[in-house]
Amino acid sequence: MSKTYSEEELSQLPFRDESLELEERVKDLLSRLTLEEKFKLCSGRLMWNTKFIKRLGVKSFTMYDGPHGVRPDSMGKTKSTYFPSTICRAATWDPKLSYAFGKAIAEEVREVGAHMLLAPGINIQRTPMNGRTFEYQTEDPHLNKILAVATVKGIQSQKIAACVKHYICNNQETNRLTVNSEVSERALQEIYLPAFKATVQEADAWSFMTCYNKVNGIYGSENYNLLRERLMENWGFRGFTVSDWNGTAYTSTEGCVNAGLSLEMPTSKKLSKRNMRNAFQEGKFSEETLNDNITRLLRVMFLVGQFDDKSTLPSGNRNTPKHQALARKIAENGIVLLKNSDAILPLNIDKLKKLAIVGPNADFKLVGGGIFSDGGSSANFPPYEISPLEGLKQKCKDRVEIIETPSKAEVTILFAGLNHEHGMDAEGEDRKSFNLPLEQIELIKRTVKQNPKTIVVLINGSPIPMNEWIDSVPSVVEAWYGGMEVGNAIADILFGDVNPSGKLPLTFPKKLSDSPAHNSERTFPGVEENVFYDEGIYVGYRYFDKEEMEPLFPFGYGLSYTTFKYENLKLDKEKFSKDDIVTVSVDLVNTGSRSGAEIIQLYVQDIECSTDRPPKELKKFEKVKLEQNERKTVEFNLTSGDFSFYDDSTHSWVVESGTFNILLGSSSRDIHLQKEIEYFD
Ligand code: BGC
Repeated sequence: MSKTYSEEELSQLPFRDESLELEERVKDLLSRLTLEEKFKLCSGRLMWNTKFIKRLGVKSFTMYDGPHGVRPDSMGKTKSTYFPSTICRAATWDPKLSYAFGKAIAEEVREVGAHMLLAPGINIQRTPMNGRTFEYQTEDPHLNKILAVATVKGIQSQKIAACVKHYICNNQETNRLTVNSEVSERALQEIYLPAFKATVQEADAWSFMTCYNKVNGIYGSENYNLLRERLMENWGFRGFTVSDWNGTAYTSTEGCVNAGLSLEMPTSKKLSKRNMRNAFQEGKFSEETLNDNITRLLRVMFLVGQFDDKSTLPSGNRNTPKHQALARKIAENGIVLLKNSDAILPLNIDKLKKLAIVGPNADFKLVGGGIFSDGGSSANFPPYEISPLEGLKQKCKDRVEIIETPSKAEVTILFAGLNHEHGMDAEGEDRKSFNLPLEQIELIKRTVKQNPKTIVVLINGSPIPMNEWIDSVPSVVEAWYGGMEVGNAIADILFGDVNPSGKLPLTFPKKLSDSPAHNSERTFPGVEENVFYDEGIYVGYRYFDKEEMEPLFPFGYGLSYTTFKYENLKLDKEKFSKDDIVTVSVDLVNTGSRSGAEIIQLYVQDIECSTDRPPKELKKFEKVKLEQNERKTVEFNLTSGDFSFYDDSTHSWVVESGTFNILLGSSSRDIHLQKEIEYFD
């Protein structure tokens, strides 16, 4: 019989001694667990908790969704800040905002007494049809990596574990529990893995959630190569892995344990005590392997301070004005101005008399029904929500009359887009249609006829085509799902209190068949539950560039109310080699009539290469704020790694001697300056 300790006795045990090294404490606690207790810790209890071991004072470790706000219950009893959707945060291209978001949401996690946030979701946006596009960041591995690292650092600054999900190639919802993603090693290395790897190596992520799908024939939760080999051995991950909810359904007990799955959620199935005991007795996994899995979970319990005096931990806070202001700031920075002919925007509040506001998304709010009606697991319950209409009413109060008849107004704002119903931007299913609902297209056409000064503001979380109406509409704004303060953010942008500075984190194709994942049934939604990533590394703009195809709006695109000029591109050397750093400098000048921010993008192009490479790849970017007429010199440092590709034949990253082009632009298609540089071995 194992000893049950009193609280007094427990407090004397080495693992409770905060002055000891972390690993010593973990080791001590592990050594006190019986085999049965270890089995017990391998699977969850109810929806959001691990099981506890009372006799040792090991309390339940608690984790909650999700990317946009912490949601401790599905009924909305606990309110929390609803931050802009992940795609909107990504459209800010601002890692400082991602850090601030991570820190703020972790404060809310702390305040509700939990230890881990089931976020960030960083799957690559391979197809615009993915129902979860709004929950992910971007189609580009570099932007993905920078924002993911900042978010994880922000979350973990509060001693709350980030749970990076869904590892990996969980790029569609169709057949999500059983689908197999067939993907080449090069595409894994260049597109799908980099951000996940960086969250381990640059942000020390404490947890990874495995994917539902199979990757090259093996389910994420029992994928030895992805978990044990790459994540743990190659990248040096010290945290624990958790299955996606019921993601172990088609796996085996020993498959998961041997691959390195520490925790099965939400309840005991494949990793139940009975299954664990049987598989162990049959010699299907060793105690050493089990110990490693448990050690990882215990380590994170220590890292979040579960065994420490509460007074030494961050106290957390929730629904503060500071968090609400941050939600607004992210929305303001993430809104993308897509079109503005005749400079119809910004609206002048002193001159405008009558403004018509129409469209199905004018009063858009989360339904408040939680995960069943608000898009899936990322849903949450904000204490209040300012819809676009409410934000505009507030802004226009006593100054501009708001009406509903476009023909009687000087300007009309039409709120179109999607919502979180199934078949649109929602977890569990992919989008049913790429287009806007027909009635919305007709509404846009009708409204523009009634009032040519119609601004279309889109509330959605994934690309839509606009060819049927965009030429007749003078201005288009992509406002995403912008969180609880979105109405204020939209009003600030439309009236020019805030100058738009967001840029698209993904390509908007003109039509679905232009998108690389939509070449055939093989590539989406798959044949007999196998999705072939035939496009390989040519995801997003890499494909559009290679095919010289005009997208509706390119990756990295977004307008401002001011104008910027790029000048004086300089490289500090003409040739470089393996260990050199190339410093690129460029002057940016605000040549317009108001202050604003530009996102300078640096792309690298390999001019001569023995293998097929994308025409350009994003390697650096910076969001630069400039007053009117202000000039700033921006510097980027490139290493040889920024010029490399993954060589399938040698299984390694290679830089080939020859000429490269450094491109500086305001989008992947608006390159303003370029200069060549020579690499030699
Ligand atoms: C989702 C995860 C989520 C989990 C818990 C799953 O269905 O794929 O992203 O964290 O549920 O709600």
